[in-house]
Amino acid sequence: MRTFQQNDVSLAFYDSATRHVPLILVHGFPVYHSMWRDQLSGLGDVARIIAPDLRGYGGSERGREALSIQLFAHDLLALIDHLQLEHVILGGLSMGGYVVQEFLALAPERVKGLILCDTRSEADSPEEATKRFSTIESIRGGGREAFIEGMIERLLAPSSREGTLTAMIREMAKGASPELLCDTLLALAERRDTTHLLKEISVPSLIVVGKEDVITPPSFAHRMASALRQAEVYEVEGVGHMAPLEAPDLVNDKIRDFLARCDNGSTSTK
Ligand code: MLT
Repeated sequence: MRTFQQNDVSLAFYDSATRHVPLILVHGFPVYHSMWRDQLSGLGDVARIIAPDLRGYGGSERGREALSIQLFAHDLLALIDHLQLEHVILGGLSMGGYVVQEFLALAPERVKGLILCDTRSEADSPEEATKRFSTIESIRGGGREAFIEGMIERLLAPSSREGTLTAMIREMAKGASPELLCDTLLALAERRDTTHLLKEISVPSLIVVGKEDVITPPSFAHRMASALRQAEVYEVEGVGHMAPLEAPDLVNDKIRDFLARCDNGSTSTK
């Protein structure tokens, strides 16, 4: 892992540092860059893969600022500037997808392609936000372990829970302190609708969703696709909210085809 300094905060990122087209993959909640392990190992021959840890997660410091999806998007722009990348293909899963969409408000001209996995563009409904507030209360009251176990059930399709993925996600989630979980839940509850940002971008877009995703089901994917000008939706059979981890070969094949379509020679380092 490498690090860079964003104001007073040290932020970590994986970088395969090859000369291929840069593909940035932003993780979901409450995990970190390792959720992309099969993309890091399986796509290195076609992309320079960069996978940041959002502030507070994995190897990145938390800093003092209140967390927000906008702050994460600013950190992402700082990373892209730090690496002197003129154009990138930007991908994110769930919360990572919210960050990627928010990035479109900052520097859409840097984005040559979008990969949105198991995510959505709508904000929380009042009921969803209220549920997050009560989750915050229960975590503050000592319910962190129960929250993590409940979250794993929602992240993975039943068939994916039987293997090693449950332990892997549990391990990553346990790296997040109760304060970090609560601060992030607040940021998620307060995030805005980003559908208007999708409407303004015309780059090729791949939307991946597990058919059994109970957090952001396929209906969300299709709504994002209708806001975008050039979107393809790939529904992955038999998997849940962590499609790139649950069905790595299928998802990698799809990303591989997508990169070939995006890489028209304009995706290069400065
Ligand atoms: C995630 O996987 O990043 C979260 O489930 C996002 C959310 O709860 O909205």
